[in-house]
Amino acid sequence: MAIFGALNSIFGRKPGTLLSNSMAIDLGTANTLVYLQGRGIVLEQPSVVAINRETNELVAVGHDAKAMLGRTGTTLQALKPLKDGVITNATATMAMLREFFSMAKTRRISMRPRVLVCVPSGITEVEVSAVRTALERAGAREVLLVSEPLASAIGVGIPVEGAAGNMVVDIGGGTTEVAVISLSSISANNSIRIGGDEIDNAISIYLKKQYSLLIGERTAELVKIRMGTVLEDDDEEYEVSGLDFVNGIPETYIINSEDIRKALKEVVGTIVEAVRHGLEKTPPELASDIVDRGVVLTGGGALLRGLDRLLMSETGLPIRVADNPLSCTVLGAGLILEDIYRYRNLLL
Ligand SMILES: Nc1ncnc2c1ncn2[C@@H]1O[C@H](COP(=O)(O)OP(=O)(O)OP(=O)(O)O)[C@@H](O)[C@H]1O
Ligand SMILES: [Mg+2]
Repeated sequence: MAIFGALNSIFGRKPGTLLSNSMAIDLGTANTLVYLQGRGIVLEQPSVVAINRETNELVAVGHDAKAMLGRTGTTLQALKPLKDGVITNATATMAMLREFFSMAKTRRISMRPRVLVCVPSGITEVEVSAVRTALERAGAREVLLVSEPLASAIGVGIPVEGAAGNMVVDIGGGTTEVAVISLSSISANNSIRIGGDEIDNAISIYLKKQYSLLIGERTAELVKIRMGTVLEDDDEEYEVSGLDFVNGIPETYIINSEDIRKALKEVVGTIVEAVRHGLEKTPPELASDIVDRGVVLTGGGALLRGLDRLLMSETGLPIRVADNPLSCTVLGAGLILEDIYRYRNLLL
């Protein structure tokens, strides 16, 4: 196996030619995805764990744990071990990864895979080391790193090796990353620790202020996915239930698109500003490429209705939402694994 590993490292591997023992992982604030070399994407789960506080035992991970968010009592705790794109609870991250590894595992992949992990471009060395440690403790034999925007760009089919500049804007759960890519590297970037979680939060705060209604983070996300919009002409209604904090009893209100637009105005404004700022940092030659080629939106936040149109009117650039915004990062990392020799310069 060691010889195969070395050959894989040196020459890269054509699918099916050698036993593969590598996986790519997008360890996101909201979702974790795993790509097995030679197989494709095999796992897509929320980055959530549920733990028994008394015994410290892992009770559930992924979808099962997410369903428990905000519903647990004193014994059980459901939590997200990452925030703003980085690990905030090392033990829980490690336990979650170990579980995901075993869910993704097949007979072809050993317990100790080589792992290519995607990390935010603004990540610090301390945060990188936390990712590395969590993966190693979860069973990784070797950890390779790639910047998320580069992986996303490959995942949406951008020719990253060319000289022409391409802009990718990834709006994830915890971060928004704006990156200009050319010649296999990031030529300009702007990363803010604001993403889908902040959008959910803005909805919660608005409903609390406007209707004295307290809702949980799961409900806020659901409202966003069902009727989140920044389009002026959207006119929808939606029933939201929560706790009226004045009377202390459960209540249901009907909210409309105007409520949502008002709730999202500030946080969406911050995201638009981040894109503008990324453009300002772009070298002129690459900026002119972006005028021609436009911007690709990735990450779950790219699905917010009307965000592409808003960005188009605010920047004057052509904007396109990726076909697979939630999975393009891990797909790109997987493609790097499949042709590691070609993409070796992209690794951090
Ligand atoms: N239809 C939708 N409309 C708006 N937002 C959505 C939609 N679907 C998913 N999202 C949001 O996308 C976010 C998750 O996106 P993604 O999986 O790309 O994040 P992540 O990679 O886990 O986070 P990060 O990259 O910041 O660490 C969540 O906030 C989720 O609520
Ligand atoms: Mg992401």
